[in-house]
Order: sequence, then structure tokens, then C-alpha cells
Amino acid sequence: MNRLLLTAGLLSICGVASCRGDVSEEPPIHLQRNMFSQERYDPQAFSPFFEDNRSMRSPVEGTVSREHYEADDTIATGRFADNSGYVLTVPTAIAARLGGPDKMVQRGQERFNIYCTPCHDKGGNGRGTVARVPNGFAKLPSLHDARLREVPDGQLFATITNGVRMMPSYAAQVPVNDRWAIVAYVRALQMSQGANNDQGKK
Ligand code: HEC
Repeated sequence: MNRLLLTAGLLSICGVASCRGDVSEEPPIHLQRNMFSQERYDPQAFSPFFEDNRSMRSPVEGTVSREHYEADDTIATGRFADNSGYVLTVPTAIAARLGGPDKMVQRGQERFNIYCTPCHDKGGNGRGTVARVPNGFAKLPSLHDARLREVPDGQLFATITNGVRMMPSYAAQVPVNDRWAIVAYVRALQMSQGANNDQGKK
């Protein structure tokens, strides 16, 4: 009996020890596979299942984003509620949402430096890194052009939201409140660059 137990014991130790340190090309054995392997598509993959052969599906038309939902139409579009034109100034609700006018402009500066300077540069002169790439953008406007100093705040907001001609939309990267904050900062930038020596004199 004792000998039998000893042999069984030795055998099991050998069994366990022989597994350690082994390198195996085989996938590990999972008795219960759970969700380790399942059929799925990789991003951008081909799929014979769908008519257009794309595995990535677009949201159904009219889908409303839960993360980026803005109930106020004017804030969402930069236009008056009756769609008669662009609002002239940043809606007051934005400063309140962002902790006051100063915080709003600071936030705008931070976001502008992240999202706009690659093309428009920190001063807004249209000489950012991307603009200087040979054969890159043919011409970037200066944000200090007389025309852009005059356009309503709502139009600047819509420019960031929808893009304009060569400029892509930044709606996906920059949430609504931040887009307005950027508009407030662009105004501050225009004011600072447009200042002349006579201003402020009595
Ligand atoms: C990838 C480069 C790029 C980035 C980043 C970019 N823009 Fe532009 N932007 C352009 C180009 C190019 C134009 C000129 C569009 C045209 O006239 O074809 C332009 C034009 C504009 C105009 C003038 C629109 C008009 O009415 O003519 C404004 C205002 C503007 N951008 C603001 C911004 C702001 C604010 C940001 C940051 C959220 C930004 N842009 C980010 C490339 C960029």
C-alpha cells in the first residue's frame, strides 16, 4: 500500500514538473472557452455578408448622439432658432457652462492651440506646420483678415462645426462648448493682433 502511494506521488510530481518551463506553439488548453474565441470582424475588414462589403456599419440615418447631444438649436448650429442667420455673439449660456468668461477664453486658447494651430499657427496667421508642407494647402487665410474679423460668432462656430471648402469639420474632435470657447478665443486673438498704438489713448 505504502509503495503504491509513493509511486503515485512520485508520478504526479513528475507530471506537474514536466509541464513547467515548456515552450509550446499550441494555444493553451481552456476547458471552458467562455468568450475567448468568437466570430468577429477586425476594424476596416472586408465582409461578404453586407452588400457594400464593409464590416463597419454607419449609424442609421437620423441617429442622435447621446454623448454629443445639444438640446439648444442655436448653440448646436450657431444660427438663430428661426434659421434667419448666424448669431452675432457667443451664447451667454456657454460662459456659464464653462465657469465664467475668463475660464471660457482660457479653455478656448488651450483647445485652439491643440486643434487649430497645426494649420492656422498660434497667432492665427495661417502659417502652421501643415500649411508649410510643400504642395500642402495652397493658401490658408489669416484669421485677421478684415472679412473674418467681421463675420458673426455663429459663422465661426459653424466653420469649426461643418468645415469650409478645404478645411475639414472639427465637430467629431471638439465638443460643442469647446467650439464656442475657441470662437471666444479667436475673437480675443483678433482683438490683440488688431490693436494699434492709438487705442487706449485718451
Ligand atoms: C488641417 C488644417 C486646418 C485645421 C487644423 C484648421 N483649419 Fe481652419 N482652415 C483651413 C483651411 C485650408 C482654410 C481655408 C479654406 C478654404 O477657403 O478653402 C481654413 C479656413 C478657416 C477659416 C475661414 C473660413 C472662411 O469663412 O473663409 C476659419 C475662421 C478657420 N479656418 C478657423 C479654424 C479654427 C477655429 C480651427 C480649429 C478648430 C481650424 N480652423 C482648424 C485649414 C485648417
